[in-house]
Amino acid sequence: MNIEIWKEDWRQEKSWLKTFLVFYFFRVLRNDISWRLLSDKNREWILRSNLIPNLERPGYADPENYGGGKTFDSKKNRKSTAKGLLLANYLEKYQPKSVLEIGPGAGFDTRMICDFPSVKRYVGVDINPAFTDFLQPRLNKFALSKKDFSFSLHTGDFKSMAFEPVNSIIFLSAVHHIPDRNELFASIKEPLVEGGTLFLYEPSHYLPRIDLITRKFLRGYYGPKYRNELSGLATHNFCTAEEFEKVFHKVGQLKMEKCFHLRLEFPFFVNRILRAYLNRKGVFRTPENWFMVEGANNPLRFFANRIAVIAQKSTRS
Ligand SMILES: C[S@@+](CC[C@H](N)C(=O)[O-])C[C@H]1O[C@@H](n2cnc3c(N)ncnc32)[C@H](O)[C@@H]1O
Repeated sequence: MNIEIWKEDWRQEKSWLKTFLVFYFFRVLRNDISWRLLSDKNREWILRSNLIPNLERPGYADPENYGGGKTFDSKKNRKSTAKGLLLANYLEKYQPKSVLEIGPGAGFDTRMICDFPSVKRYVGVDINPAFTDFLQPRLNKFALSKKDFSFSLHTGDFKSMAFEPVNSIIFLSAVHHIPDRNELFASIKEPLVEGGTLFLYEPSHYLPRIDLITRKFLRGYYGPKYRNELSGLATHNFCTAEEFEKVFHKVGQLKMEKCFHLRLEFPFFVNRILRAYLNRKGVFRTPENWFMVEGANNPLRFFANRIAVIAQKSTRS
């Protein structure tokens, strides 16, 4: 793969995707809808563009400083974030023995997964070698300190790999880098054993996101120069409960067990009213003080910035 050649080829490419309106809809539509509407050629460009931030983004090339120093070594309490708290509750409830994590990055939450008493086997895969190189010596050391614990780390695109059977698959802010979700879930349900579970925590694609994208368009942020750079295509098409339900149904054997919507943000004219109402109702607040509601169909999901999902595999219909 020669990213520099791809970048130059994209600059020369005449594609509808470079036009203002098509690019706007590509960004603003729900991921599965925009993916379905794209031509095979444009999908190929998007898959290529996704490799650029994953391999070249400065924070990604320097794991030590990823996320402001939130790494495997960090002493910070993992449960001080909604992501960590939901992950801890998930581990507590399902007590997985073996976990496959896609996209561990610098491993801040990986530490909690590996530390969890029921977890005896950890498999991690990251497309970025800087992250797996960073995690390898840390996991080597960790494995010496935990009885009966073993791990394996793989570098590359999870799609090109076959994994051993596991009880749990975890994605923390990684699904939104992967636009072909039918392919994603069809491939990862294979290593999941009967009754095994998936845990996902991702940025969501509802009104706050649509509002932000639209405002960026109106301000000229996604101008011709932006659209002419391959990195501008990189999919940050965030996630929705609707898309997950649809994809799980399509690939089969995966059933949504739980869905949480969090970091609710309201437009200014209903902000005070809705906040007061949710406070009165005693709606759960995360450690970051975000509102969090439960249910794939909860109407408040339209105001959410984050989504967490637990799904279970069952071959019985
Ligand atoms: C936003 S980071 C999240 C890192 C970490 N899980 C966290 O929550 O801080 C996304 C991670 O997914 C990895 N990734 C993206 N696409 C991938 C793919 N196709 N296969 C494996 N890893 C991938 C990236 O290299 C990166 O480490």
